[in-house]
Amino acid sequence: MSGIKRKKISELLDGQPGEDVLAKGWVRTKRGNKNVVFIALNDGSTVNNIQVVCDAGNFPEELLKSVTTGACIAVKGRLAESVGKGQKVEIQASEIEIYGTADPEKYPLQKKGHSMEFLREIAHLRPRTNTFGCVFRIRHAMAYAIHKYFNDRGFYYLHTPLITASDCEGAGAMFQVTTLDLNDVPKGPDGKTDFSQDFFGRQTSLTVSGQLEGELGAMALGQIYTFGPTFRAENSNTPRHLAEFWMVEPEVAFCDIVENMDLAEDFIKYLVRYALEHCMDDLQFLNNMFDKELISRLEGVADTEFVRLSYTEGVDILSKSGQKFEYPVYWGADLQSEHERYLVEKHFGRPVILTDYPKDIKAFYMKQNEDGKTVRAMDVLFPKIGEIIGGSQREENLDKLQARIAELGMDTKGLWWYLDTRRFGTAPHSGFGLGFERLLLFVTGMANIRDVIPFPRTPKSAEF
Ligand code: 4AD
Ligand code: MG
Repeated sequence: MSGIKRKKISELLDGQPGEDVLAKGWVRTKRGNKNVVFIALNDGSTVNNIQVVCDAGNFPEELLKSVTTGACIAVKGRLAESVGKGQKVEIQASEIEIYGTADPEKYPLQKKGHSMEFLREIAHLRPRTNTFGCVFRIRHAMAYAIHKYFNDRGFYYLHTPLITASDCEGAGAMFQVTTLDLNDVPKGPDGKTDFSQDFFGRQTSLTVSGQLEGELGAMALGQIYTFGPTFRAENSNTPRHLAEFWMVEPEVAFCDIVENMDLAEDFIKYLVRYALEHCMDDLQFLNNMFDKELISRLEGVADTEFVRLSYTEGVDILSKSGQKFEYPVYWGADLQSEHERYLVEKHFGRPVILTDYPKDIKAFYMKQNEDGKTVRAMDVLFPKIGEIIGGSQREENLDKLQARIAELGMDTKGLWWYLDTRRFGTAPHSGFGLGFERLLLFVTGMANIRDVIPFPRTPKSAEF
């Protein structure tokens, strides 16, 4: 097929009748009779298919027979005004080349309306469905918007390591990285594993957060962000947890908790607005298919001021709510998603930023408040999701930070480099982490976090 340059279907759908065109893509459906055949073709450039009309008499019967759902073809023809509804133009085909057939007896995506659970079992093919096409296009647009947001505001993208010797969140939910022979682990005189013989000469893991290294960057470059994969070996099989997820972590020098909240709120509204401005076709599809309130919920968040209140006030509201919760609420309890969602969905009806949590349920690095009980933490809570962002002002005082580390029984030796930022030219600073897939749950309206990442990693599941 020579002569004309292939155009994407997104461009062709805006094309002028009369134009000679070449399209390539995967067959979504084929229907028709012995005189005329209609092929719906998709190439991933848009959720919309282009209709290819074939005069059956102009093509060998065998060829049209091989054009089945899932097959990949090239079509040459002329754009013509479409009489069918839903599209301006269609292709009147003159030539068809088959790149790859898809045996109808075996190709698993024959019909529409497969369950999400089934599609997870064929994660290698699900990008070919309308739904996952929409989700992954939106995922791309959001990743791009994140870089644009920070770049436009003078933040530097800092690449923090994935292999690390420190546990930032102190939750102990880390995947070990080792080249030791697990069937013959070297032992030291104390009978414990001798990590000095391991690849890095010490015990290492996959990172749970880029924050600690991000802070080093902020203490030199002023404002940075990280955006990369993070790993958590928590055994939580929920619709909101992945073992491998992507996190965006800005870190800003000379920034207090209030400015940190302002940044978080502005950032997330920007992303939602970006989706509304640039992904409307995909959002419209998801809105129609899954969640009739998706677009209005997105518009709502983009225009609403978030509520800001303290953890203590939040617990007070929850205790007085009269609502039955699965997990009890009391001052000091870690809030569960049911509590967060009650505040957001039932009580306030908009996103909530909860601050000043008890220090015992938060990580060691958070700035301690005067009351000796709480820290300058902030969690941003969203409808349908619960926590979407976790962040804080950081403890910049060396003595206080060391005292907290000792109190928690953590090992200061391994953190000497982190503590050096407090030793040399310390400064007030703050940051937060946005769970990228939690954001995507919100923006796409999907119900399960496994359906907003191409290849989900969850307990007992890492096949594709
Ligand atoms: O609240 P987290 O644990 O905060 C941190 O890791 C800080 N170091 C961030 C910072 O201040 N720089 O995680 C941040 C966000 C959560 O709010 C949530 O959106 C997401 O990461 N997250 C997860 N997303 C998917 N699967 C999991 N297992 C997640 N754990 C956290
Ligand atoms: Mg958190």
